Amino acid sequence: MSNYHIKHLEEYYQVYRKSIRCPEHFWEEIAEEHFMWQKKWNNVLSWDFSKPEIKWFEGAKLNITENCIDRHLATRGNKTAILFEPNNPSELAEHITYKQLSERVNRFANVLKQEGIKKGDRVCIYLPMIPELAISVLACARIGAIHSVVFAGFSATALSTRINDSDCKMVITSDGSYRGPKTIDLKGIVDEALESCSGVNSVLVAKRIHSGINMQNGRDKWLQPLLDEASIDCKAEIMDAEDPLFILYTSGSTGKPKGMVHTTAGYMVYTAYTFKNVFQYKEDDIYWCTADIGWITGHSYIVYGPLANGATTVMFEGVPSYPDYGRFWEIVEKHKINQFYTAPTAIRALAKQGLEVVEKHDLSSLKVLGSVGEPINEEAWHWYNDNIGKKQSPIVDTWWQTETGGIMITPIPFVTPTKPTYATLPFIGIQPTLMDENGNEIKGNQVSGRLCVKFPWPSIARTIWGNHKRYKDTYFSAYENKYFTGDGALRDEVGYYRITGRVDDVIIVSGHNLGTAPIEDAVNEHPAVAESAIVGFPHDVKGNALYGYVILKDVGETRDHNNLRKEINQIITEHIGPIAKLDKIQFTEGLPKTRSGKIMRRILRKIAHNDISNLGDTSTLLNPEVVQSIIDGKKNADNTNW
Ligand code: WT7
Repeated sequence: MSNYHIKHLEEYYQVYRKSIRCPEHFWEEIAEEHFMWQKKWNNVLSWDFSKPEIKWFEGAKLNITENCIDRHLATRGNKTAILFEPNNPSELAEHITYKQLSERVNRFANVLKQEGIKKGDRVCIYLPMIPELAISVLACARIGAIHSVVFAGFSATALSTRINDSDCKMVITSDGSYRGPKTIDLKGIVDEALESCSGVNSVLVAKRIHSGINMQNGRDKWLQPLLDEASIDCKAEIMDAEDPLFILYTSGSTGKPKGMVHTTAGYMVYTAYTFKNVFQYKEDDIYWCTADIGWITGHSYIVYGPLANGATTVMFEGVPSYPDYGRFWEIVEKHKINQFYTAPTAIRALAKQGLEVVEKHDLSSLKVLGSVGEPINEEAWHWYNDNIGKKQSPIVDTWWQTETGGIMITPIPFVTPTKPTYATLPFIGIQPTLMDENGNEIKGNQVSGRLCVKFPWPSIARTIWGNHKRYKDTYFSAYENKYFTGDGALRDEVGYYRITGRVDDVIIVSGHNLGTAPIEDAVNEHPAVAESAIVGFPHDVKGNALYGYVILKDVGETRDHNNLRKEINQIITEHIGPIAKLDKIQFTEGLPKTRSGKIMRRILRKIAHNDISNLGDTSTLLNPEVVQSIIDGKKNADNTNW
């Protein structure tokens, strides 16, 4: 019997055991029964974490868009595939059926071909949350081009770094975007980025805000006239199971962003299977994930996972606060949303607004609530459970990463009893483990350690674009023969997992994964700055906010410190984007360093947290006296309002 849809706890344990005992057999059955293949595989899995090399369904031939679109046409042609809800609530929502999606993706795919894009070429997509974003992603997949979506909140510098890292030939963008009451000049940002990207020879521009933008002759083309001319038929490129499907950048604790490479067959199978079970999706449900397609959540659980199941997936262009803080709930009522998937930072921001904006709306369509991106604190969990789910809709606290491609630790709603702040149990096929600092596995329950995974799953990223060594060093070197997640976790008395947070120099701010090193590099660009160190500190809406310790070159610097703070944040905005701005900046004369010159961030973190009673061992510091001076100087960061 097929194990595609898990319906009760007994079944979960049974299927879980089977998936662990014989993973190849288990995934083969799922792949065989629920997807469309041009040719089946010769081998289900081969892997070696020491290289690392992981291959799923080797020898198989397929195209993911045939699975996400074509195979639904006979039975679901007139069903809504994508339901687009615009930024402005008085603009009409758009229902794109599977048939229309097929035509639009094929037209777009033909335009890409006509513009010289071939299988294996990289295409950068820098678009707001409008239908063209999902359609261009699928159009790339249709012809075997590798898409690299860059979140349209990133700056020109961040965009050009990503374009150059993977040698994109083309950029797909729009004239601009709406963000609540504001408009953003996306094309202007692209123009600036492309000044340093010599490999891009064509830019396709969608019209969204009808602003008067500059079109560069020979390089820039309006998208719509090309689409109008293109045919609605485009044969799907036949892909190998392990051909790259996309690159998606994520921040690391050091250096430049990592272009995580996801491949075709395993990614498809795993995102589809998790979507079906984690959201208990039923045929006529309307599913809404509020993430942006610029992040992995949007790739896996707005586009590929839902469409592979023939679902109706909502794309929302706007923000939760526009025209007021009731917007999410208004949309839930308007489209009768059944599954709602969002981030803790949004829940906390909305909880602050009081219940009036919630109670105005009928939320009775909701069946399942999801949370992703960072640990959900107890208060936010209860607010979500009580006021949005009315204690009737289970919360799935889903733990996963850009690198994992799909959800890894999660309750299955109506199957796994939930527990506030716990991501609960591993999903089918996932073998998590906790490691101690000496590299030993921690057995038993009621323990905590570093979260690793012992065995490959189908959607694990296969490499970092252009840097396989970094892939190995980052994920497979800390513990032998294990994938290291970078997170700490604890396991309770019944084996439920709770993710406690990052154990490296990545800080999650409003659900965005930010590495400290690139932000420090940006701060150090300021001509007055000699050195800087950035740590996180708790923030009631963002989860964490950033605290910067900055050493100025000239100790007698007389310039207004608040101006310097603004200038530093301006540089961060230009280099990375506004999401990486510092909430607090403390000017200091020194930073605590070990004898080998490494900044002791543990101490800086404690000071930023106001937790100075026990700073731990400072005896290995080269300059222990600096610690007291930083504590004394902290008020200059706390008391300022800028
Ligand atoms: C990091 C990955 C997965 C898509 C969005 C983020 C943190 C994610 C949870 C959760 C606690 C979580 C982890 C992880 N994280 N989900 N449910 N509970 N922490 O993807 O940007 O690659 O970030 O987000 O620290 O390592 P990402």
